[in-house]
Amino acid sequence: MKKIGLLTSGGDCQALNAAMRGVVKTIINASDQVEIYGFLEGYKGLIYGNFRMLGSADFSGILTKGGTILGSSRTPFKLMREPDENGLDKVEAMKHNYYKLNLDCLVILGGNGTHKTANMLREEGLNVVTLPKTIDNDLWGTDMTFGFQSAVDIATDAIDRIHTTAASHGRVFIVEVMGHKVGWLTLNAGMAGGADIILVPEIPYNIKKIVKAIEERHKRGSRFTILAVAEGAISKEDAALSKKELKKKQEKKIYPSISYQVAAEIEERTGLDVRVTVPGHTQRGGGPCPYDRVFASRLGAEAGKLIMKGEYGFMVGYSNREIVKVPLEDVAGKLKYLSPDASIIQEAKMLGISFGD
Ligand code: F6P
Repeated sequence: MKKIGLLTSGGDCQALNAAMRGVVKTIINASDQVEIYGFLEGYKGLIYGNFRMLGSADFSGILTKGGTILGSSRTPFKLMREPDENGLDKVEAMKHNYYKLNLDCLVILGGNGTHKTANMLREEGLNVVTLPKTIDNDLWGTDMTFGFQSAVDIATDAIDRIHTTAASHGRVFIVEVMGHKVGWLTLNAGMAGGADIILVPEIPYNIKKIVKAIEERHKRGSRFTILAVAEGAISKEDAALSKKELKKKQEKKIYPSISYQVAAEIEERTGLDVRVTVPGHTQRGGGPCPYDRVFASRLGAEAGKLIMKGEYGFMVGYSNREIVKVPLEDVAGKLKYLSPDASIIQEAKMLGISFGD
């Protein structure tokens, strides 16, 4: 009998259900001696022993369903070693529930923070297999995370829709794209949507260069300009500040987000009408695109295979077009940034896209 615990942690994304379905179908197809424990709302469920017993019926019809059937929550890694408000040792509580249920392993679906905790549980002696989810595509050790392609589709659609209205009014439009501290989502949606200027955290911008790019477009007869701006985009001046100085500056919070700051600066310097659109959490919403359905199913199937073989301590990832297993200790605590020297950036520049640098 295999006893498997499943949990989804951190911000949700598309294809979490498809990935879990992939794991469970693979295991059930290989053995009928399986018990599945679904922990609710991420690590919280494991800490407080909140779970549901799941059967194959729970995984039927969820391939295309957005969100997660288990619920999710953010339980920051840095607070894991701190007792909760009632003095409960969270790490000991997770271990206790794992051993009490006599689990063979935990299957944990999550992003960066989730992987730090997953690796800590591995170090504490639990059997863990993880799957890389996040629309940000910033997990180290995998070329791609599931949720990313679906979010690219949604952010691209937002830019596509802005195109017609921007062209009608001859305005400057900014579409703010999620992605936390990295620019994968903004770069891909920006290129797919034909943005004229793309601002990503990895390439700090100079506002004068942005203004120049807009003015040159106008001189060439274009009546509008579209910017895809990552929520984590940063100016060259701010990038030169120390962490402490930047935090102090950001505490003043004059604008709701970076896009509004860039918009105000463009308006002031050019006199043009600028509008900001923030698709926000719609980028994580709805069902997975076909790519993510296939991708998450493949990752889930390979995770199921590892579990059947009793191979634990790995994230199932994707490298050079192959599904790979990556040791958790290599993944935990590392972000996968976009390299400013990456060929995709150079190609975008050849196409005339400005990065404001
Ligand atoms: O990590 C996924 C993500 O959507 C980021 O792109 C974004 O910065 C963050 O989560 C938003 O977090 P929350 O849903 O907690 O507001």
